[in-house]
Amino acid sequence: MNKQKIRILAIETSCDETSVAIVEDGKHVLANVVSSQIETHQKFGGVVPEIASRKHVESMTWMMEEARRQSGIGFHELSAIAVTQGPGLVGSLLVGIVAAKSLAFALNLPLIGVHHIAGHIYANEFVTSFQYPLIALVVSGGHTELVYVKERGSFEIIGQTRDDAVGEAYDKVARALSLPYPGGPHVDKLAQGADDSIDLPRAWLEKTSYDFSFSGLKSAVMNVLNQAKMKGEEVDPSHIAHGFQASVIDVLVTKTIRAAKHYGVKQCCIAGGVAANKGLRTALQQACDKEGLSLIIPPLEYCTDNAAMIGAAAFLKWENKEFTPLDMKAEPLMNLQTW
Ligand code: KG4
Ligand code: ZN
Repeated sequence: MNKQKIRILAIETSCDETSVAIVEDGKHVLANVVSSQIETHQKFGGVVPEIASRKHVESMTWMMEEARRQSGIGFHELSAIAVTQGPGLVGSLLVGIVAAKSLAFALNLPLIGVHHIAGHIYANEFVTSFQYPLIALVVSGGHTELVYVKERGSFEIIGQTRDDAVGEAYDKVARALSLPYPGGPHVDKLAQGADDSIDLPRAWLEKTSYDFSFSGLKSAVMNVLNQAKMKGEEVDPSHIAHGFQASVIDVLVTKTIRAAKHYGVKQCCIAGGVAANKGLRTALQQACDKEGLSLIIPPLEYCTDNAAMIGAAAFLKWENKEFTPLDMKAEPLMNLQTW
């Protein structure tokens, strides 16, 4: 007899992307509809939380319908409703949570609250199944973490940023270079095309630490720009982008490899919006190849925020029948280790 397929409808609204997906058995994406609000927030140079919430409300119903249409799956064929419970902007999270609760209640299906970063990490399983233990390098607009994943669904944060998240540093440097928001992809592109580089510092911190710090690097970029301005000199933005990206990648890759060796893992993976960075993808692949480590890199569409990844992580909870009560609340500071 065929095993019954588990189809989870997942919702992601933690920041400025509204997304609804239908994922089968945690691995097969039947639909992944993403509506980005970038254009709306661009003129403000960053995400305006109040506007983000309103945009989520406007998009939610048609996106649910669109995910259903694209997947060819009827609501009666769903097994559970999943939603990002945190971390994120509280007003944005609430829109997804209210939509998920309403659907779960109306269809009499279990509700599953998911940690956003657990989603980013398990997006890697759209590529291939994990081999445990593994190290995940999480790099997004709000997070920079090295996570030791000893076994399925367990997360131990062994290092994290002490100040700016790496995506945040990219966005701030981009703004200083007068590039549009979000700046990461623009800095990445400039760096790729650069014919020279400005040498910028690396924050290694204590010898054994897996923590990160990017605020000093960001200040170093500002110093270069200010000094050039005072002297009336021009600096090629691509040289700054290259130097900045080289420093970021050097530290991220070196610490990831050191952690992988120390913890004796079989595999590394990368997660979050900055995992879309071409330079980082290439450098980490080269370093893992050199060390004989297997590396999973998610396709670009599963690096930036999307609901398919929430459906992937929700499947872990489904397997353990860990459902979330209908009176659950948004958790803007949700803890990954106890998710
Ligand atoms: O994971 P994500 O979509 O949202 C959060 O959960 O934060 O990550 C967004 C971040 C932004 O800071 C954006 O600038 C950065 O990811 N990003 C990049 C690239 N694409 C997106 N950073 C560097 N290089 C890229 N190609
Ligand atoms: Zn994210």
